[in-house]
Amino acid sequence: MGNILILYHSQTGNTRAMADLVAEGAGKVPGMNIKCLSLKEAKPADLLWCDGIALGAPTHLGVAPWQMVQWWTKATSKAWRHVDGKIGCDFSSSGGWGGGNEMTVQSLLKIMMNFGILVFGATDYTGKKTTLHYGAVAAGKPGTAREKQACRRLGRRLAEWVAVLVDGQKDQSPHKVKYNRFKRS
Ligand SMILES: Cc1cc2nc3c(=O)[nH]c(=O)nc-3n(C[C@H](O)[C@H](O)[C@H](O)COP(=O)(O)O)c2cc1C
Repeated sequence: MGNILILYHSQTGNTRAMADLVAEGAGKVPGMNIKCLSLKEAKPADLLWCDGIALGAPTHLGVAPWQMVQWWTKATSKAWRHVDGKIGCDFSSSGGWGGGNEMTVQSLLKIMMNFGILVFGATDYTGKKTTLHYGAVAAGKPGTAREKQACRRLGRRLAEWVAVLVDGQKDQSPHKVKYNRFKRS
């Protein structure tokens, strides 16, 4: 068994839609307990509970919003030094392409790295010119099949790594899976 936390902030629902897709993808791997929580719902105890975390936020001024930084700042006393070695990845919705969503995912990765979380990207493509090397990104609500699939793939990959590295399910390795990881059309 493995525990997956999808922790997100969303003001107008776009990142929330991504979070739901990430959860759907994580559910493709057997034996995962999945919690999908907003910043308002989540407690530091949820961080301690999880084996893997997908962190999602809208792009605000080209970086992670202050609410996300505030949540992790408040969590420091209970979680810092207690979550090293968990597995992390991330996602962001911005107003438009070029609006900074790739920089935002990197700022989310940095927060997790500061807590000792092992962060990863994915080499996969989920459609024409669409990848998730640093996390899944969308402009607005994920609308196209390839954007939605990038979110699902992120969650699935997180669950796969948790299955392999935490739960000992070696057959769930992305190197052994049967689906096409590099669909470019
Ligand atoms: C305070 C604020 C700052 C924003 N800054 C950016 C930005 O720098 N670049 C961008 O592309 N969109 C920016 N946006 C737009 C949001 O990233 C975008 O609408 C996103 O889809 C919202 O996601 P949500 O529905 O999960 O809140 C900003 C929105 C707000 C409220």
